[in-house]
Amino acid sequence: MLKVHLYYCGGEPGIGKSTLILQICDKMKGEGKVLYVSGEESAEQIKMRADRLNIKNEDIMFLGETDIDVISQAIEEMNPKLVIIDSIQTMYSDEISSAAGTVSQVREITARIMKICKQQAITTIIIGHVTKEGNIAGPRVLEHMVDTVLYLEGERYFSYRVLRGVKNRFGSTNEIGMFEMRNEGMVEISNPSSILISERDDNPAGSVIVASIEGTRPLMIELQALTSQTVFGMPRRAANGVDYNRLTLLMAVLEKKAKMLLGSQDIYLNVVSGIKIQEPAIDLGIILAVASSFKNISIPTDLVAIGEVGLTGEVRSVNMIEKRLKEAEKLGFKKCIIPENNKKLLKDKFKLDIIGVKNIDEALRILK
Ligand SMILES: Nc1ncnc2c1ncn2[C@@H]1O[C@H](COP(=O)(O)OP(=O)(O)OP(=O)(O)O)[C@@H](O)[C@H]1O
Ligand SMILES: [Mg+2]
Repeated sequence: MLKVHLYYCGGEPGIGKSTLILQICDKMKGEGKVLYVSGEESAEQIKMRADRLNIKNEDIMFLGETDIDVISQAIEEMNPKLVIIDSIQTMYSDEISSAAGTVSQVREITARIMKICKQQAITTIIIGHVTKEGNIAGPRVLEHMVDTVLYLEGERYFSYRVLRGVKNRFGSTNEIGMFEMRNEGMVEISNPSSILISERDDNPAGSVIVASIEGTRPLMIELQALTSQTVFGMPRRAANGVDYNRLTLLMAVLEKKAKMLLGSQDIYLNVVSGIKIQEPAIDLGIILAVASSFKNISIPTDLVAIGEVGLTGEVRSVNMIEKRLKEAEKLGFKKCIIPENNKKLLKDKFKLDIIGVKNIDEALRILK
């Protein structure tokens, strides 16, 4: 099932890395031995988690160890099918004088593990922490050494998690998997869109649904914006789930091109569910959400907005438009605002009412 790769799985503390990986170990049942090396938790703690997750694979061996010499020896002697290193930041090598978790230690440990595992054709998953800014705590060099890099994302106090592929030497990248963190562990969500938009209130101003593509999958997500009069000093801009700079840039476009006076407004933007979206196809959604909150006029709940917005206020075409529209149709949406250039080239027939727009002014007409 798993390829003979060196995987790296990163994520913020407490997000569920150990849980997910332990579940993967369980799925290896019948495929051979698994060595789970933990430098963070004792065998009892892992046993407690394994019991809670109802893990039944008796071929999983635990090793509570941080010394790479001992770990290497154990791997060589056991020759398992799968090795888990939880986490790279806790492991150390005597040959390097600096403390565990430093750049040189992380590099050395990864190189050592890589050597043994490639020689013996063992699949390896290295777990690592990611800092709040999203960098691997330690060196990025690690990303170059491994075959596949995966990130587990999500808000700690929110139960949804996204596992995102950022590098894959032998397959496609940017695929995602969505999970819900439950008592019994991570449970895959096979139809994420329906969950992501299920908690919508009745027609609130400032809320809009966008259709984003994550990897090859369309995802319908709710964006929420709130504008409020700045009380004192500089107006605030806050973005959760989208790039802050993108938000400020789009606000400048909205001010200049749609003559919306946002200079004395605090603006907050949130991607509901704690998912991070990077692609520009949600630009139009951001513009509409902010304008909707500012004017206090709601956007119809059966509408989806798709489009990239350029600096002159033009709405630019996006890729995979038909896939996005199909998902919107499947979930019962009735209207879609999309770039005019995309509309012209549509081949498939849709039951949706498709509105093509050239610029943000045309799109903002729905708020009148
Ligand atoms: N009984 C439980 N029911 C539901 N969720 C739980 C339970 N116990 C722990 N959790 C969740 O599991 C999370 C910790 O998961 P896990 O240890 O897999 O994370 P991690 O990413 O490996 O963390 P760390 O960085 O500390 O190693 C906790 O933040 C908590 O939300
Ligand atoms: Mg852990």
